[in-house]
Amino acid sequence: MIKVHETVAGLRAQVRQWREEGARIGFVPTMGNLHAGHHALVQLARQHADKVVASIFVNPTQFGPNEDYARYPRTPERDIEGLQAQGCDLAFLPTVDQMYPFGTIGCVQMHVPGITDILCGAHRPGHFNGVATVVARLFNMVQPDLAVFGRKDYQQLQVIRYMTRELSFPIEIVPAPTLREADGLAMSSRNQYLEGEQRRTAVRIYETLCFMREAARQGLPLAGIEDEARERLEAAGFEVDYSEIRRADLSRPRTADEPGLLALVAARLGRTRLIDNLEFDTP
Ligand code: PAJ
Repeated sequence: MIKVHETVAGLRAQVRQWREEGARIGFVPTMGNLHAGHHALVQLARQHADKVVASIFVNPTQFGPNEDYARYPRTPERDIEGLQAQGCDLAFLPTVDQMYPFGTIGCVQMHVPGITDILCGAHRPGHFNGVATVVARLFNMVQPDLAVFGRKDYQQLQVIRYMTRELSFPIEIVPAPTLREADGLAMSSRNQYLEGEQRRTAVRIYETLCFMREAARQGLPLAGIEDEARERLEAAGFEVDYSEIRRADLSRPRTADEPGLLALVAARLGRTRLIDNLEFDTP
């Protein structure tokens, strides 16, 4: 039976006991409304650890003032059932007061410079500070041996890697592949905001990423590929935040035919903001 804890004290007592038994602890942080992509993270954690802790916490500090914090889907009962079915050992569902006992304004915060100024960081000011702040707190609360993060949120994965390395958290960061719907749309809790026609349009993001990959493989100029991707998405009805090709460390490549690149897109359909990326090697 999965254990459910809402307090740091309860979580700590259980993890301490497992640690005394010699268990390796894996951790999967989430904001809930879990789908198959999250479940795959739990399965990956199970392959690397003896006990798996998952957290469900819709983190207020990573949402901008005009973003979807209030309406973000909250489905804790179904989430806990899903975690149990995946063999997760503990679900941690802290309250905002447990996570931010001194409030969310003026609290101790993380800032990971440089990498948070580009891509999603440029369009969501403060977002990655909030992500890094809550993940650092969660790392301290859970004290896992490893933590799994999805490549779907590639920039987030990089921010967490930098923070973990720089602060010497003794935690291995394990990346997980992106799970997609049958038509290629990356699974996301935000997909359920999409209505009728929007759901059919959403797959254009994946198609555009595939176009960017093929154009890069053909050696077309970088800026031309990025502009063409933006135009294709705008023609399909998106408002585009960015369509870019980057290196694995998210620096800018000189040309689109370097090895080990990614195509990244963030675009809005109505009020719904979708992100996705595709890693590729050029021949
Ligand atoms: P959330 O969006 O719930 O995602 C939790 C984890 O699931 C992240 O590591 C994310 O990359 C991964 N994930 C989401 N969709 C995925 C998919 N289709 N395939 C594979 N993995 C996927 O990301 C967050 O929450 C928050 O920012 C968090 C890290 C929990 C901090 O609040």
